[in-house]
Amino acid sequence: MIHHRKKTKKTLIPRKKYKKAEKRTPKGFKTSNDFFEYVFEDKEMIWMGQNTNHLNKGRINDSLIKCIESKEYCKYPPPEGFSKLKELILKDLNHEELDVLLTAGGTESIYLCMHDFITKEDNVITCDPGYLIIGSFAARFAKEVRYVPIYNEECNYKLTPKLVKENMDENTKMIVLIDPLNPLGTSYTKEEIKEFAKIAIENDIYLLHDITYKDFAKEHYLAADYAPNNTLTIFSFSKIYGMAGLRIGAVISTKPMIDSIKNLVVNDLGVNILSQIGAISALESKKDWISDIKEITNNNQKLIKKTVDKIDGVFIPAYPSNGNMLVIDLSKINISPKKMAEYLLDKKIFTREGNYTSKLFGDKYLRVSYSIPEEEVKLFCEEFEKAVKALK
Ligand SMILES: Cc1ncc(COP(=O)(O)O)c(C=O)c1O
Repeated sequence: MIHHRKKTKKTLIPRKKYKKAEKRTPKGFKTSNDFFEYVFEDKEMIWMGQNTNHLNKGRINDSLIKCIESKEYCKYPPPEGFSKLKELILKDLNHEELDVLLTAGGTESIYLCMHDFITKEDNVITCDPGYLIIGSFAARFAKEVRYVPIYNEECNYKLTPKLVKENMDENTKMIVLIDPLNPLGTSYTKEEIKEFAKIAIENDIYLLHDITYKDFAKEHYLAADYAPNNTLTIFSFSKIYGMAGLRIGAVISTKPMIDSIKNLVVNDLGVNILSQIGAISALESKKDWISDIKEITNNNQKLIKKTVDKIDGVFIPAYPSNGNMLVIDLSKINISPKKMAEYLLDKKIFTREGNYTSKLFGDKYLRVSYSIPEEEVKLFCEEFEKAVKALK
């Protein structure tokens, strides 16, 4: 006997579990992916929109080419990554007793941490402006994400221990410290990091310490030095190491915490072998290139500051930045950051309007990154001055 299945009106498209993070589509593009593809395909585009670093040369490149030529990429890497790479990351942090999980970028590490450690009863404290994807990931698992407004002088444009205390309650489970902060480039003193560590230990909560930009900072302190059992350190090869497109990063914490995160891993066959080879050589050769990159980046920052200072009403709220990016405030001269970004894009300069990193203050500022050749920064400076005149 043939059984006929009853026809129902069910659709095969599954219910969406999470609200998609809002991504504004730049003018003239159907999707934000179309926009990114457009800027990527234009080989003359000056890349000041993603805090990437275009100054590395030599060793990292050579090791990538060697790996391609050897065709070793035919093989799978060890599923948890090359131990040499993990050792080098821990050595870089001076925490050889901790453990590492390699991921396809800091982004994946952040997601896994939220997934593992945050539940529906919890709230998470982060800041606005900030790297908003962290809050979006937290929102998938938490009851509430508290975006503390920090775009003001009073708190020195960063989430301070005082602000954290004011916004905490018994359900707070995690404090997100982006240090240096994307987009403002503010970072923490040793005293502040110690204070955060104390808060975390006393209240039994996690510190997610995102140190993606740490090597651009004049001084940098690790929360893991003071609260190792509470800290999840997020590490990225996308910025100072200049490997954004290779998508590799890590989370570092105690062995029990890393073991716990490993249960959630999707990429069971490991992280891209080419990226790992590049990352090993980046860390091994770091002492040979880091000071040059910092010097060029710092000098570029000074060129931008000089240009901004010439223009009445335009200012850099947090200067000097400890990152490879900074914020230029346009609110006093009433120029929309979106218009400014569009104007510069027409001149083949890719920058980011504020709403990419802020829900509350995005209409006030433009973010520019400057670990690129000096000639390109000079071009930006010229075009920026012209843009202010044209758009005012
Ligand atoms: C604070 C911060 N964390 C993480 C990331 C992403 O890092 P990755 O490229 O390693 O995923 C970014 C990228 O801009 C960032 O600004």
